[in-house]
Amino acid sequence: MGKNLNLDWARLGFTYMKTDFRYVSRWKDGKWDEGKLVEDNRLCISEASTVLHYGQACFEGLKAYRTKNGKIQLFRPDMNARRMQESCRRILMPEVPVERFIDACRQVVKANEDYVPPYGTGATLYLRPFMFGTGDTIGVAPAPEYIFSVFCLPVGAYFKGGLSPVNFTVSEYDRAAPFGTGAVKVGGNYAGSLLPHKLAVEKGFADCIYLDPATHTKIEEVGAANFFGITKDGKFVTPKSPSILPSVTRISLLQVARDVLGMETEERDVFIDRLDEFAEAGACGTAAVITPIGGIEYRGKLHVFYSETEVGPVTKKLYEVLTGIQFGDLEAPEGWIFEV
Ligand code: PLP
Ligand code: COI
Repeated sequence: MGKNLNLDWARLGFTYMKTDFRYVSRWKDGKWDEGKLVEDNRLCISEASTVLHYGQACFEGLKAYRTKNGKIQLFRPDMNARRMQESCRRILMPEVPVERFIDACRQVVKANEDYVPPYGTGATLYLRPFMFGTGDTIGVAPAPEYIFSVFCLPVGAYFKGGLSPVNFTVSEYDRAAPFGTGAVKVGGNYAGSLLPHKLAVEKGFADCIYLDPATHTKIEEVGAANFFGITKDGKFVTPKSPSILPSVTRISLLQVARDVLGMETEERDVFIDRLDEFAEAGACGTAAVITPIGGIEYRGKLHVFYSETEVGPVTKKLYEVLTGIQFGDLEAPEGWIFEV
């Protein structure tokens, strides 16, 4: 271990911090260059870059975890690599091969090893791979050049409170269109979410819940996380829709619920006027980890699940198993952990 950063690891929130190195690779004339680690956190691009005008950009989010014995591991980076390829296909950007994506993540973590929070602090190193179109373009067309980069920063809880419940309100806005870009992680989806998020926070909620854009009757997403509910008869339920981002955490929880906790699981419609079928509910994602949902406000009424102040027993168990696997305390299903 190198320098002493003097960070208060246990109190970190989800805010940007410049770390020492980031990976940058450029695509031109049909191919990626070698890619390298650089210290400068600024990127210089043409004023006519498609990212600036037409939002030709996508990103990923994953974490590196420090284990009890001091090792560092990534959680399912291959899933993020493949999801980024899906995003690239949808908005006509070149794909980064899975191996190269994982190698870039490993390089960035190794180069910034001092920033990987110590085991036991609850903090992690968040990695942000991203890609966007650059070069000179003025018509609405794919860019002639691209930049793929990965940076990282230590983070704590995304939603205030960690494992203590927070409340959400249902947005009147949609985050995605029925056949739009909701299932991929492209920048424009998030620009559109800034106002609904701000309105939710102004009303005193942690974030907003989006309903399905076609009928506005079913839960799609919880801000930048997926929804799950535990029914009163103990089933793990999560919404199914072509406009939801396929969350790596959600896919992992489905398997944990089924194979580790022996629960029945269902991916299906979750109707906003049927919330009383759930004993507990939560938001899940890389940044959100598992955040218990205290209550959901819909049409002026707050529906409270387990409690507004305490995490429910099943949500707690899911959290313990998921984070136990991520921090290396529990054995992971094959292929989930990549050592750095
Ligand atoms: N839904 C949206 C809209 C997101 O931005 C994210 C974050 O990546 C998620 C869900 C959770 O996905 P994951 O578990 O892969 O981080
Ligand atoms: C993530 O969970 O990694 C996200 O991308 C969520 C958010 C910070 C956009």
